[in-house]
Amino acid sequence: MQIHINEEKKQFHLTNGQISYIFHVMKNGQLGHLYYGKALKHRDDFSHFQRYDVPTAASCHPYRDDPAFSLETVRQEYPVYGSSDFREPAISVSNPNKSHIPAFQYYSCCVLEGKPVLEGLPATYANDPDEAKTLRVVLKDDFLNAELELSYTLFKNKPVITRSAKVKNNGEENLIIERMMAASLDLPDKEFIFTHLAGTWARERHVKERVLEMGIQSISSIRGASSHHHNPFLALKRPTATEHTGEVYGFNFVYSSNFIMQVEVDHYDMARLTIGIHPFGFKWNLAPKESFQTPEVVMVYSDQGLNGMSQAFHQLYRENLIAERWKQVERPILINNWEATYFDFNEEKLVNIAKSASELGIELFVLDDGWFGKRNDDTSSLGDWHVDQRKLPNGLESLAEKVRATGMKFGLWFEPEMISPNSDLFREHPDWAVGMLNQPSTLGRNQLVLDFSRPEIVEYLYGKMSSIIKQTGLSYIKWDMNRNITEAFSAKLPACQQGEFFHRYILGVYHLYERLTNEFPDVLFESCAGGGGRFDPGMLYYAPQAWASDDTDAVERLKIQYGTSFAYPLYSMGSHVSAVPNHQTLRKTPLATRANTAYFGTFGYELDPLKLSDEERQEIKEQVAFYKKYRKLIRDGQFYRLVSPFTGNEAAWMVVRDDRSEAIVGWYKVLATPNSPKHQTLKLVGLDQEKVYQVNGLKQMFYGDELMQVGLPLPTEFNGVNGNNAKRGGDFQSEVFYFKQV
Ligand code: GLA
Repeated sequence: MQIHINEEKKQFHLTNGQISYIFHVMKNGQLGHLYYGKALKHRDDFSHFQRYDVPTAASCHPYRDDPAFSLETVRQEYPVYGSSDFREPAISVSNPNKSHIPAFQYYSCCVLEGKPVLEGLPATYANDPDEAKTLRVVLKDDFLNAELELSYTLFKNKPVITRSAKVKNNGEENLIIERMMAASLDLPDKEFIFTHLAGTWARERHVKERVLEMGIQSISSIRGASSHHHNPFLALKRPTATEHTGEVYGFNFVYSSNFIMQVEVDHYDMARLTIGIHPFGFKWNLAPKESFQTPEVVMVYSDQGLNGMSQAFHQLYRENLIAERWKQVERPILINNWEATYFDFNEEKLVNIAKSASELGIELFVLDDGWFGKRNDDTSSLGDWHVDQRKLPNGLESLAEKVRATGMKFGLWFEPEMISPNSDLFREHPDWAVGMLNQPSTLGRNQLVLDFSRPEIVEYLYGKMSSIIKQTGLSYIKWDMNRNITEAFSAKLPACQQGEFFHRYILGVYHLYERLTNEFPDVLFESCAGGGGRFDPGMLYYAPQAWASDDTDAVERLKIQYGTSFAYPLYSMGSHVSAVPNHQTLRKTPLATRANTAYFGTFGYELDPLKLSDEERQEIKEQVAFYKKYRKLIRDGQFYRLVSPFTGNEAAWMVVRDDRSEAIVGWYKVLATPNSPKHQTLKLVGLDQEKVYQVNGLKQMFYGDELMQVGLPLPTEFNGVNGNNAKRGGDFQSEVFYFKQV
């Protein structure tokens, strides 16, 4: 891992044997981009990568004697608008008293061992100083009296670079930032498929692809959350790349609020990628001596297709994002009472669920929504974080004790960022809600949002949550966030600072997470936002698992979990078995298929165990035992997507232990095929071709090369006449295979 700096030519080459990232200082003092991709041999001079050979007749150029040098056509690191580049810039900052075109010029650079923290923001980290190196480049704009600091962190043995930017006001007057991206990247051509994860509630993170064309294509959120609709993830994939071969650039923004990820293809077919806080409605007042730090972008380069990109993200997040405390821990199999009872429960009912679940081997009981205030439905009580004595007259402590007496841990649901108009808190503090007092505000799920940009409100929530954690000794919190933000306005911010609201809001959320996770390191947090409405790396930094979707239907989950795996490791995905008919789709899938899907995540149940038949209970006992046996493999192994549910009737994926001695494969077929193909096999990847594997349930042993080249024979499907021989039949079939090296 090296950061080469050519002082004379002012060139920077970050390389770790897997990737190279090269840029330099251009003749105008701004930074020019030279290369990002597979590692290149280092050489003293990379100037030949800088090309000015484009037609210039219609271009503007800052140097009268050098018309070939036009910012319009040159690749840059952190571009500005106003001096011959007409593409969208990375930064727009001005002094309102002296209108100005930003002109940050190279000033200095330094290399730091490790990776400095981003104050107040979630970010990847180095476990020790040898694991990463950070290049900091400082540029100055003397007219504005501002300093721009661009940070690039290179990780050892990972095809990853993280980038962020910071601006500092060194002058005596306020500066206004109207746009500040975490990173901008100019790629020399547009031959990419723009691949992203889009959807909505109950249908999150479906894989979408589009061809890049001249113009701007973007994904974004202006909802105050990263959103169900667009995940802050983007891959630029070469048209010939597949799951396992070819070039892919992956990007993930470590942020949980308004964002934009856009690619602008210009008239010379260059592609400019910009990633950062969404500039719409954003306006930050930077007082003298203050700084503004952007969140960071994780950039992955893969020459092993989309799956190679995903593995790099997974490894980084497992090792350098998720809190140390939760890396090697076996996450508990949980049962959540939401779909079992909704709001209708009392202590007896809950304790009975807990007892019954404990007999099945389940390890954690989670009491979901409805335990506080006077909450019989979703029209009241958010903000009133004290137990509803009508439902739980003996209090939460008594319930927690009784749950623990069954041998299970106790967990609780909160929605800290919300306030119901029908709540004591709102009656007491109507100005605590986001929006303008005495002006209409829009409801979402009958609730308003608390103004987390105000430290005193965050402090209040800290007081409430920390005392409940202490009283109950709980082990787990599900932190929900069920609506997006409208009428974005804070009663405490002056008019000229309302453009800071969204960012200050999410900093408030991060601050509360930071305090609670520091003070209660043994409490496992699972983030949730009406299911997967805030499934992003910012949240994963604090909460190592996230409820992937409110949709627990096994067929829908194939797509949701498949898409989620593009960036996020299996061990971050909350995935549960629920009852049938499924509450979101009314579909009836076999219990085995529900578990076979949910195993590939952090496993649990979302049903009433008292309503199960004896056979179902027996089956669930076996599922629980199975997950306990293999959860370490699912946590630590390499994940491979094999068959996409977006392209056909089947899906498959697998996890392989690092030494390739073990693997677990999930295969799913949505609808049955009449008179189906006779010799269906599933080709595997990632095994050791020399090793011999025993597959559970099969007498035959296989060499790794056979499994990868010929494939694993799938059990025979019912075809109308082979009744006795058919191993599977009907819709929603699935199998999980476990492989062990002999
Ligand atoms: C959201 C969550 C659900 C459940 C309900 C409770 O929809 O995603 O899992 O907790 O809220 O109101």
